[in-house]
Amino acid sequence: MTARVPEGFWWGVATSAYQIEGATTEDGRGESIWDRFSHTPGKVLGGDTGDVACDHYHRWREDVALMVELGVGAYRFSIAWPRVLPEGRGAVNRRGLDFYDRLVDALLEAGIRPLPTLYHWDLPQVLEDGGGWARRSTAHAFAEYTAIVADRLGDRVRDWFTINEPWVVTQLGYVLGIHAPGRVEPDVGPAVAHHLLLAHGLATEAIRAVVRDARVGIVLNLDPMQPASLHPADVAEARLQDVLMNRWYLDPIAGRGYPEEGVEFLTWDRAEVRPGDLETIATPIDRLGVNYYRRQVVASPSVHDADRPPPRIRPGPIFTEMDWEVYPPGLYDLLRRLDCDYHFPAYVVTENGAAFPDPSPEGGRVVDPDRVAFLRGHLLAAHRALSEGVPLEGYLVWSLLDNFEWGFGYSRRFGIIHVDFTDQTRTWKDSAVWYRRVIAEGAVS
Ligand code: FCB
Repeated sequence: MTARVPEGFWWGVATSAYQIEGATTEDGRGESIWDRFSHTPGKVLGGDTGDVACDHYHRWREDVALMVELGVGAYRFSIAWPRVLPEGRGAVNRRGLDFYDRLVDALLEAGIRPLPTLYHWDLPQVLEDGGGWARRSTAHAFAEYTAIVADRLGDRVRDWFTINEPWVVTQLGYVLGIHAPGRVEPDVGPAVAHHLLLAHGLATEAIRAVVRDARVGIVLNLDPMQPASLHPADVAEARLQDVLMNRWYLDPIAGRGYPEEGVEFLTWDRAEVRPGDLETIATPIDRLGVNYYRRQVVASPSVHDADRPPPRIRPGPIFTEMDWEVYPPGLYDLLRRLDCDYHFPAYVVTENGAAFPDPSPEGGRVVDPDRVAFLRGHLLAAHRALSEGVPLEGYLVWSLLDNFEWGFGYSRRFGIIHVDFTDQTRTWKDSAVWYRRVIAEGAVS
C-alpha cells in the first residue's frame, strides 16, 4: 500500500531551544528555570545539563544543511525567552534576537518553512523568582515577549505556535516537581494551567496585532484514554483522566470553558478566572499542534482485581525506552476525535517519535529499525485520518537530533540523526535515510 499525501503537506522535524542550543551564558542570555533545575544536584539523571547540548547555537548552519539533505519542508524550533529578555521583561537583548533572525533567513533561503514555538519550557528564572506561572503577571510578560519576537520576525514568519504542552508544564513542573521549576504544589496546578492558557490567548492577540496574515496555534500533548475494562469504575476513571489531561486544555481553547464534569474533587475555586479571561483563551486559533506519543489504558485504583471483569483492552507488547506504549492507531483515533468533537480549522502533528536504545554508529551508520517501524506506523495512521477528511497540514518528527531529554538528560535518544555528545559528530540513523525517501516520494509505503 502506498499512502500519498497532497502537494503542500508539511514534512518536517522538530526541536526545542533548551534541548539543543547549549551556549547558555553566551551573547547576553539570561538564566532559565531549566539552567537552575539541571544544575541542582539530583534533579536530572546523571547530573546532565543543557550547557552544551547539541551545540546548535554554534552549529546551526550544519544543522540546517542536514535538514536540506533530508528534504524537509518545515522546521519547528523554539525561541528561548531568556535570550530575548534576560530579565524576563524590559530590556531586549538584541544579540539573542539576532540568532533567530539569522536562523529564519537561512531556513527561508533553503525553502524550509520556519515554525517557531514561543515557549518550550525555558522560563526566565527571574520570572519564576517572582512566582512563575502561578502568577498572572507571567502571562502578561509572555505577551510582551511575544510582541517583541513577532515584531522582529513577523515580516518573514507567518506560522506561529505559542505554548508547548501546558499540561506538562503544570503537572511535571508545578505539581509533581520532576521538571523545572521543581515545585511540588498541587494546589497551584489549576492556576498555573489557567495562566498558561491565558498567556496563549494574549500572545495570539499580540501576534495578530503585529503580523497581518499570521497563522497561530497552540501545541497540546494529548493521550487517548481507554478504560481497561467495562467496569463502571474503570470507565469513569478513563473519562476523568481524559478531562484532566486533554479536555482541560481543549475545551477552553474551543470556547467551552473548563469542564465541569468529573472534577468535583478539584479544590479550585476558580478565583483566578477573571471576567474576559475565557474569551481571551478562546481567541480562535488557525490550527492545533498535536503532540502524540502514546495512549493510556486506564484502570481505576478503587477496583480490586477480583471484582474487575477480564480486561478488554490491554496495552500492547511494545514499549519505547520511555516506557510509553507504541500504539499507532491512537494517532488516527485522536485526529478523528478532534475533528469530530472540536473541529478546529486545521491540525499539524507537531511531535511524534520514539526513544529506543540505539546501537552506536558503525561505519557512518546507525541501525534503528524500531524507530523506522514506529514512524512508519504513525505516518500511516495520520494518513488514514487525512484521507478520511481530517484537515491535517503536516507531520513533524520528534526529533531532528538526539538531545537533552529533560529529566532523563542525554540518556534517551529521540533523534533521527545521532549526536555524539563528546565531539558533536552527527551521524544519520537508518530512520533519517528512510524519512528522506518518504519525503522525496511524498508517500509512505
Ligand atoms: C514532549 C516534549 C519534547 C520532548 C518529547 C519527547 O513532551 O515537548 O520536548 O521532550 O516530549
